[in-house]
Amino acid sequence: MSLVTTKEMFEKSMKEKFAIGAFNVNNMEIIQGIVDAASKENSPVILQASSSAIKYARPNYLMKMVEAAISETNIPIVMHLDHGPDFETCKSCIDAGFTSVMIDGSKYSFEENVELTKKVVDYAHERGVVVEAELGKLAGIEDDVNVASSDAMYTDPAEAEEFVKRTGCDSLAIAIGTSHGAYKFKGEAKLRFDILQKVKERIPNTPIVLHGASTVIPELVEMCNKYGGNIPGAKGVPDEILHEASISGVSKINVDTDLRLAMTAGIRKVFAENPEVFDPRKYLAPARDLITEIVQHKIRDVFGSSNKM
Ligand code: G3H
Ligand code: 13P
Ligand code: ZN
Repeated sequence: MSLVTTKEMFEKSMKEKFAIGAFNVNNMEIIQGIVDAASKENSPVILQASSSAIKYARPNYLMKMVEAAISETNIPIVMHLDHGPDFETCKSCIDAGFTSVMIDGSKYSFEENVELTKKVVDYAHERGVVVEAELGKLAGIEDDVNVASSDAMYTDPAEAEEFVKRTGCDSLAIAIGTSHGAYKFKGEAKLRFDILQKVKERIPNTPIVLHGASTVIPELVEMCNKYGGNIPGAKGVPDEILHEASISGVSKINVDTDLRLAMTAGIRKVFAENPEVFDPRKYLAPARDLITEIVQHKIRDVFGSSNKM
């Protein structure tokens, strides 16, 4: 199978009320861990790379690894640019064969965001590539941009309607209380489902994207800390809330932090229990297996995309 865009899977997700996991990739083990999980669950999946991930893995390696993944499975896979910072980065990913790009103009004014997004949409659509845009600001770290929580801004539903109309973007990331990284909530975890509902009322046919949606799986945080890590007070979006989002109109759920935690926890455990180990395969394989396990759990028990091909 070749790479696909998000078009069909998003249509199905809106009709049948489930979400598709979008998982951040940086290296071979992460790609394999995610694709193995999605294949076992017979689920569509979105692989996404930030511009810093592309720089780290190197563009050619990244695309070749994704091509290898596609050649070994029949599930629909999307290759997506996460948090594209500018037109040039989006263009280079489109030219390199990505089937979906995000232009993140959320740091700009509404008018500047419209103008930039429209420019990317025009270039992408001419080449059969779909575009995710963002309106509203998440607190926390957005791909090298640190947004203080005081600057975080929920998405305005009326603006969302105007934005989609004027840009022609294919999906929209909205801010309803999530944030990037391992420290999302000081007190109780809470999302503004009322805003999500208002957005859906205004743009019922536009797939909605939730960034900063890792659970920050407590067992993985404990495992990291038990084996020498130091990640105190980490807190994410609980599974029940993400499930609620999946059946309430969110079509794409972004996960990076949980993958980082799984990889690190898996490696730390082997190092702590087997200090004599120095063969990378001996610690990378269990870390890869742990990624498969948590991605399968999300797909099957939280997002509901198993057998939705
Ligand atoms: O939302 C941002 C993602 O977690 C990517 O982070 O720029 O460190 O790869 P990164
Ligand atoms: P997390 O940090 O919650 O995993 O969010 C990832 C994300 O939004 C990638 O764009
Ligand atoms: Zn994000």
